[in-house]
Formats: sequence, structure tokens, C-alpha cells
Amino acid sequence: MSDAEGVKPRHFVDLADFSTGEIESLVAGAKALKARRVKGNLGDYLPLLGKKIALIFQQPSLRTRMSFDVGINELGAHVLIVSGDEIELGHRESIADTARVMSRYVDAIMIRMLSHHELLEMAQYATVPVINGLTKKSHPCQVLADIQTFEERLGSIRGRTIAWTGDSNNVLASWVHAAARLDVKLKIATPEQLSPPAALLDWARAEGAELKLTNDPYEAVDGADCVITDSWVSMGDGDREYRHNLLRPFQVDQRLMDAANKGAIFMHCLPAKRGEEVAAEVIDGPQSAVWDEAENRLHAQKSVLVWALTDTK
Ligand code: CP
Ligand code: NVA
Repeated sequence: MSDAEGVKPRHFVDLADFSTGEIESLVAGAKALKARRVKGNLGDYLPLLGKKIALIFQQPSLRTRMSFDVGINELGAHVLIVSGDEIELGHRESIADTARVMSRYVDAIMIRMLSHHELLEMAQYATVPVINGLTKKSHPCQVLADIQTFEERLGSIRGRTIAWTGDSNNVLASWVHAAARLDVKLKIATPEQLSPPAALLDWARAEGAELKLTNDPYEAVDGADCVITDSWVSMGDGDREYRHNLLRPFQVDQRLMDAANKGAIFMHCLPAKRGEEVAAEVIDGPQSAVWDEAENRLHAQKSVLVWALTDTK
């Protein structure tokens, strides 16, 4: 079941690895899959019929776990879900050996784990596609779904302005990758102490990304078509109280949304904490696109799977 010797599997590790055209094509694929989906029925499009796809979770998940499971079923494939603990990932045997063995059983591996380095190791030794379902460093499936959500609500993302306010984390890093590939202006407001990594910003600027960094959320949302935030404490983070104190001024409330462009939308990858990073009036209000974002994870990931597992020769 593994790919023939010498054929490089189509990994989906970071948006940074893709060209503008490839990202646009993945988003177009997601929109097409959404349009043809018949919820509750298999429909007549089963491009992955008979394939087997493993999902490994070393960290908790609702959206990633369910949307991959449902999406894989809708494409006609079979899903195997294992927890990192169950296979003692990286302890019982090396990541490399796990990748080699799994590649003999399944056609693709989706993995959620904190260590980006270990995910890269998995991709290095797997002979089937490896998909990043979130690491501490990035969350490309989320941002692919976010791009789709933006475009459904507001039209082409080209030339538009996106504001991020709050913590600098994996979702923001994938937005920085997207900004380097798409014609998008990304305005980022974080506390000084939680700024995005210099290496990420240097990379993005060298790749032509239009980034604006500030410590003032109002400066970030000025001129923005979309305001994004995420939880103040991501998986694997400590210093809860320290982070809360620093991040309190970065909450997205209605006053902040009103300072963005008229018609701006609000996005959040979820899970959200009302009263912390976002006020209930915003996430539950008319500008919120969060439920579409959650749904679009399904379509975006189906698009990635179809790209990774069909027409690969
Ligand atoms: N947004 C997201 O990835 O959600 P889960 O952690 O529930 O998968
Ligand atoms: N930044 C969050 C995203 C959760 C989907 C985390 O890493 O916990």
C-alpha cells in the first residue's frame, strides 16, 4: 500500500510549502466539495474508495477529530483513530519506525502532536502522505478553512486586510505563511512579551509578506476586513495567569469590531472562552463566522486528502 520506491508522498505540513496557485487550488477544491456534499448520504463521488487513513492524536480535539473522520468517510475511505498514548508515540519505538510501519498499513497519516520536529520526522520516514493536524508551531488545516470562510463571506481574499489580536501561536504562524503566499495584508497585535518569533517574521518578509506588527489592537483592526483571535492559553502553554494578565487588553469586543471595516467578520478557530479572548456579543453576534469556519474544516481537509491521494503520478 506504500508508494512505489522513489515517489515522494504529498505531505501537507505547512502552507509555507505551497505556492500561491496550489493554495488557491486547495481552497477551490474545498468549495467544490462543499457544493456537492449531500449531508447524511455518501453521494456519487468517492475518490478515496477502499483507502485507509490513520488519525493520530497526542492532544485533545473536537473539530479536527470529527471533521477528518466524517470527511474520510464521505470520500469513501476507512478511518483508523489512535491516541498517541495508545501507541506510546516516540517512546515504545522511534518516530521513524512508527512512520515506516504505518506506511505499510495505511494510505495517509494525519497527526496532531505538539512537537513540530517529530511531525517532520514522521513525514521524512513515511512513504505515504503525512498531514499536520496541529503542532505547537502551526495549524495549516485551520487556516485553509479560514481562507475559504473569508472568501465565502466577503469574496476574494486578494488585496484584503486581516487583523490578528492576542497571543502569537500556531494559528497565527499559519496565517503568516498564508500572507507570504497570498496577496493579503496581515496586521498583528500582540503584547510585546508574546511577539511572533523573529525567525518566522524574517522568513515571511523575505518571501514578500506584507506584515504590520503592533502592540495596539485598535491599530491592527484599522482597515481590516476580518478580525481573528484565539485562546490565550494554547495546548502545551504554562503561565496561565501571566498570559491572562498580558492578553486582557487584546480581547475582541464589539468596540474593537466597530473599529474595523464596516462589514468585517470575526473568526476564531475554536475552542473559545467567552469573556476572555472574545466577548460573547462578538462570537455570538452577526459578524461572527466561527460556525462556518468549523464546518469548513471538513471541506478543506477533504480537499487536502483528494490532492494528496489522487492524481499523484
Ligand atoms: N480548531 C481546532 O483545531 O479545533 P480542535 O482542537 O477541537 O480540533
Ligand atoms: N492555538 C490553539 C488552537 C487550538 C485549535 C492551541 O494550540 O491550543
